[in-house]
Amino acid sequence: SKLKSFIEEMPKCELHVHIEGTLEPEMKLQLAKRNHIKLPYKNEKAVRDAYDFDDLPSFLAVYYEGMSVLLTEQDFFDVTYAYLKKARSQNVRYTEMFFDPQAHTARGVAFDTVIRGIRRAQRQGEIELGIHSQLIMCFLRDWSAEFAMTTLLQSLPYKEWIIGVGLDSDEKNNPPIKFTKVFKRARQEGYLLTMHCDVDQDNSVSHIWQTLRDIGVDRIDHGVNSLEDEKLCDEIKRRQLALTVCPISNAYVTDSAKSQAIAAMLEAGMRVTVNSDDPAYFPGYMTENLKRVWKDVDIGKPELVQLTENAFEGSWLPRQAKDRYL
Ligand code: ADE
Ligand code: ZN
Repeated sequence: SKLKSFIEEMPKCELHVHIEGTLEPEMKLQLAKRNHIKLPYKNEKAVRDAYDFDDLPSFLAVYYEGMSVLLTEQDFFDVTYAYLKKARSQNVRYTEMFFDPQAHTARGVAFDTVIRGIRRAQRQGEIELGIHSQLIMCFLRDWSAEFAMTTLLQSLPYKEWIIGVGLDSDEKNNPPIKFTKVFKRARQEGYLLTMHCDVDQDNSVSHIWQTLRDIGVDRIDHGVNSLEDEKLCDEIKRRQLALTVCPISNAYVTDSAKSQAIAAMLEAGMRVTVNSDDPAYFPGYMTENLKRVWKDVDIGKPELVQLTENAFEGSWLPRQAKDRYL
């Protein structure tokens, strides 16, 4: 249909994708072989068959196990470049990518190795593919605030390569305020701030309030449960914060893709966006996620355009770069 090709062809902006979550089974096996790591899977299907998660913790276990094949600068280059190539093939013009340095430094991989590989892929993606990108460093919320602070300090020599910081991993019993000091320091260092407020977590609404009142975020990742509190929605609107919602991801870790919630947020004038999260695990990149919402709630061209404008407007590009895209 016309809308199907409209979705495929429209210029796109992605604001919520974890580089480590773009590691496809095929590359997982390749890198394991190259690095002489024994995996208990003999082919791509066997890898995928082990992806039987149904909530956030069961996904995270598979996600951290999977990234054990990432060891060298070349590995980080390869996974990042493959994502950029795939994104560009769906006409993604600009993407803000998360990475999880602690998941690597905790295994003995140097921060420098991780970020240099990613950075080289970003430069090559820009030159050879014409896709622009920026990097957001996430802290793992199920580790201590001290480890996050150490990681923040470790990142400072690479500050020019990182636009902002985020917070991800298991939200249960790990509220935003656990990291108030870390984020205050990150702000002082010039980083922009975002945090995951995952869908249907314990205390979702109060966690979102914390990101506003105690942290002062510039964006909210997921944040779907804000719809349960009218005052919270009003405050998110007043601050013009983008919400980075990930439909196919939602469908895996909760009971639904939350497409109705996306439509409701658009209707309410909130700066909601559609993103892929961990596309190698929650299968589907930008196009598949937009199509999912379209199929669930039958949105039209104006809504699809609004979602894309929200993403460019809510991005962490300088004003004049946004205007070139809009
Ligand atoms: N790390 C990678 N993907 C994540 C997600 N969807 N939620 C929390 N942490 C993550
Ligand atoms: Zn995420």
